[in-house]
Amino acid sequence: MRKTQIAAAARLLVRKRVPAIGASIDGVDLARVTDAQFAELHAALIAHHVIFFRDQQLTPENLLAFARRWGEPQAATESSFGKLDDFPEIDVLDYDATRPPYVTKEMWHTDFTGRERPTMGSVLYALEIPESGGDTIWVSLVAAYDALSDRMKQYLAGMRAEHRTVKAFGDDIRSNLWKDDAGKRRFEQIKALAPVEHPAIRTHPVSGRKALFVNEGYTTRLLGVDRKESDAVLGYLFDHLRTPEFQIRHHWRKGDLVVWDNRITQHYAVADYAARRLMYRITIKGDKPD
Ligand SMILES: [Fe+2]
Repeated sequence: MRKTQIAAAARLLVRKRVPAIGASIDGVDLARVTDAQFAELHAALIAHHVIFFRDQQLTPENLLAFARRWGEPQAATESSFGKLDDFPEIDVLDYDATRPPYVTKEMWHTDFTGRERPTMGSVLYALEIPESGGDTIWVSLVAAYDALSDRMKQYLAGMRAEHRTVKAFGDDIRSNLWKDDAGKRRFEQIKALAPVEHPAIRTHPVSGRKALFVNEGYTTRLLGVDRKESDAVLGYLFDHLRTPEFQIRHHWRKGDLVVWDNRITQHYAVADYAARRLMYRITIKGDKPD
């Protein structure tokens, strides 16, 4: 048995996609991952921040079992997406021309930073993909931190930032979500969420790498400085975080599965398609950033 596991692990092929972020992994069937393979996948996620798999054929049970390898799935009630029948942990992201994604209104974000404990990561699985469009872009917050000037690193050291869920889900940008009665109730819940504080520079709990932990979607202000200074510095940082060298852009195919480390990345779902795009997502519970 041990020999088989070692042989299976040896067939994993991890290929870096661009220097800053992302690796493609071949040679693994995610419906049956051995412990030895999972150890390699975990190491790859820590090293590359986002890992990409092709041609996976997973049932919802397989998907959930794979997600549980990474940690405890977040409760279904935490997100506003529809859920898969019998699998409340699985968010269903389903868009087309009649249910359009948030064209021009989507923004760069790290998932759930409006909460005390943002998610550790996500598993996203593609079931139906438009012929063109619908890409996702991820940014390495480690690369973004590393590229800051030493003076800016000193300025941000020890600084905290406020994050608010309502910034990304306000009725001014996502009014389509809150039309019916259930939506209105959900919006009241989101408005009632208290703002949270996170360090502007986060240290990854496993790798020890530092990451620039502010995002346009949720971060509302830097604490300890006045509003004008906060707006100006955050404006600079949001612009810095859009630097192409820190990014990887993925064009999805049906059967693709991506895992990202939400502690040191942000992402952007490009809303440029009309044909159906159907994905299943499971988010994994995370720690309080420090
Ligand atoms: Fe997201």
